Amino acid sequence: MPVQPICSNVLEVGASDPDRKLFDALMPTPFGTTYNSYLIIGSEATALIDPVDPDKYRDLLFNLKEVGVEKLDYIVILHTEQDHSGATPMLRRAFPEAQLVGTKKVQELMGTHLHIPSEDFITVAEGDQLSLGDKTLTFYPIPFAHWPDNTACMLEEDRILFSSDLFGSHYANKKVFSTSSNDQRIAARTYFAEIMMPFRTQCAKYTKKFREMAPHMVAPSHGPVWYEPNHIFDLYERWTGDSVRRSVVIAYVSMHESTAKMIEVLSLSLARHGLSVVCCNIAEEPESLMVETGHVAGELVDAAAFVLATPTVLGGPHPAAAYAAVLVNALKPKTRYFGVIGSYGWATKAAETIEVLTGTYKAERLPSLMVKGLPNDDDIERIRAYGDDLAAKVLAIEDVLN
Ligand code: FEO
Repeated sequence: MPVQPICSNVLEVGASDPDRKLFDALMPTPFGTTYNSYLIIGSEATALIDPVDPDKYRDLLFNLKEVGVEKLDYIVILHTEQDHSGATPMLRRAFPEAQLVGTKKVQELMGTHLHIPSEDFITVAEGDQLSLGDKTLTFYPIPFAHWPDNTACMLEEDRILFSSDLFGSHYANKKVFSTSSNDQRIAARTYFAEIMMPFRTQCAKYTKKFREMAPHMVAPSHGPVWYEPNHIFDLYERWTGDSVRRSVVIAYVSMHESTAKMIEVLSLSLARHGLSVVCCNIAEEPESLMVETGHVAGELVDAAAFVLATPTVLGGPHPAAAYAAVLVNALKPKTRYFGVIGSYGWATKAAETIEVLTGTYKAERLPSLMVKGLPNDDDIERIRAYGDDLAAKVLAIEDVLN
């Protein structure tokens, strides 16, 4: 990624990774990602906010040379996870005079993960400032957005909020600033689902706090810089609030069309009541499990209900359904209702197993509905009734999003 000016003497010098298809060996990144690194050139000192993923260190070094940086005074570490801090040891070798800056928690985790001692750091805490002469950074720890050490900082004179992972997107683009593209909104939502959603209470608090600070721009560590911060603040308010859309997400696997038939009937039953229904076949192709489950996670950000549908394999759920259950349990979406339906040949414990796998997912449970073999007329009536009952529950929700 070439050097991109953000404003006077503030430059994005990080790296782009447009071909990356999976993050943390878990999250699909169809738009790739970026590892943003911000260079701030003050009248008296120069600071770099976050080095990049170690695999992209050469890109960062190239960009710093392009800008003519011969001396770095500070390397500010907002977050330890290696996609932001992994290149720190190499960068320190290139700029041995640079002092590391980070909170106590950053120091602790940098010791754990990169074996850099805390004595090498200048410590900053809530409200502390670092002067670069005519530019000043003020620090705000944002624990659990999404690690304990995440930190934001505000460049006071230019009102740029460097928000670490918060407000980020896995979205590689030639343009550094956000656009109104729907793909960008989807990328930000999927990122929220898979990284921030388990911490939505904290994220709601930080969104409110930073909106009140009225930054002119929000510069996260992945994806575009939001030059209209209210756009991303509005989205986060929607995603972190308790209100839901009147929509039902159905993730399903089908081996011999019994479960698929159930989904067809259920979808029509729900749609007849005017609900939005999103169906994701999470095992359509061998490589589709993570991709489709990523779609499910994104859709669950503001959906009212989630139904997981599985055939029975050796007495339990299909492994793809088990994967989706474990992931949803970890991501903790705000859906109000959760149900398990599916099919079996002669006996099943699939619903019970899914129940165990989703033990900390707080949604109200719907009665499970398991059908023996291909659904017959009676089964189809039971599925329709299930859909009618679920639709009634969703339609009774009062605090809904448009
Ligand atoms: Fe982008 Fe938490 O690392």
